[in-house]
Amino acid sequence: MLVNETALTVQEIYEEMKKKLSGVVPDAELQYKAELVHDIRLLKKEKNAVILGHNYMEPALFHTIPDFAGDSLDLSRKAATTDKDVIVFCGVKFMAETAKILSPDKKVLLPSEKAGCSLAESISAEDVRKLKQMYPGVPVVTYVNTYADVKAESDICCTSSNAAQVVTSLNEDTVIFIPDEYLAKNVARETGKRIIFPVKKNGTNGQNRERKDTPLDYQMIGWKGRCEVHELFKVEDIHNVRAQFPDVTVLAHPECSPEVVAESDYSAGTNALIRYIDENNIKRFLLLTECSMADNIIAAHPDRETIRLCSIRCQHMNQITLEDTLDALRYESYVIEVPEDIRQRAYRSVSRMLEIG
Ligand code: 13P
Ligand code: SF4
Repeated sequence: MLVNETALTVQEIYEEMKKKLSGVVPDAELQYKAELVHDIRLLKKEKNAVILGHNYMEPALFHTIPDFAGDSLDLSRKAATTDKDVIVFCGVKFMAETAKILSPDKKVLLPSEKAGCSLAESISAEDVRKLKQMYPGVPVVTYVNTYADVKAESDICCTSSNAAQVVTSLNEDTVIFIPDEYLAKNVARETGKRIIFPVKKNGTNGQNRERKDTPLDYQMIGWKGRCEVHELFKVEDIHNVRAQFPDVTVLAHPECSPEVVAESDYSAGTNALIRYIDENNIKRFLLLTECSMADNIIAAHPDRETIRLCSIRCQHMNQITLEDTLDALRYESYVIEVPEDIRQRAYRSVSRMLEIG
């Protein structure tokens, strides 16, 4: 981030953007977006706001307006400690809600109402209550990619970067791990646990048919939610790329299937994936996660090469634009609210996670 960013003219901002982004963003787009960046920076100062940007934001936004950029865990920590009046969350709704849970006195804004998440949609608070009835006393570990009322029913949250650590820290024989089927399977493998998925009568998500006969000696009880982006990556994709580029390093987010993770060279949350490329000086990589992140890495390291399978963008993250971020600051929209009783209960599970690391 630039030191005195509000002093820069539109032309100076354009020059800065060109230096960093000309390899990944067309020039006409940079010229147009420089003006938006200029206006956002001024309003951010005027409103005493902080902008948090997830690693999946598009490059012209990611590299210009966030005061802090990072993964879900990182940004939760920033949201918990900011002294600004307003938090503008350039990410999706569950992330903005987590910011509100941690900083209830701040005004939290999400630039688009449509920025949801297929994982967060896959489970309701009622579903969690039913699981707890089925498995009384078994602690519930909930991925942060869920809404506040689901977090409120949980014992502890986790992110992709600390999921195994959180499960291990409980030191329990059996845990319920919701809602990501693939993350649960990957964590089960990493921690040496067995996993079951109670299924509904219609065979889709959820509970119930096995409940009476299901022995409690299983060590993880999962749920069949999936990330609509990461479930698209297949083992054959990796084989095809390796056949063409034998020196490629394959990196997968743990929301990918366990088969894909097993075929990759390294799997971790978004921050750790970026660090891995950086620290190991990886020249050519295949990144099995949201494609804007590869653009953001290439913008920071133009000497590296990313293999593009296709453009897999998260339709929810894609909702967050510079235009909408400017409007969010102008009109103070969309304000994220969490009912206080839910917030307090959700706070316990989120802060318990933050204490662990
Ligand atoms: P990270 O916590 O790794 O940033 O992932 C968030 C997410 O939504 C992945 O799809
Ligand atoms: Fe949700 Fe997947 Fe989008 Fe992440 S990439 S926000 S998990 S739908």
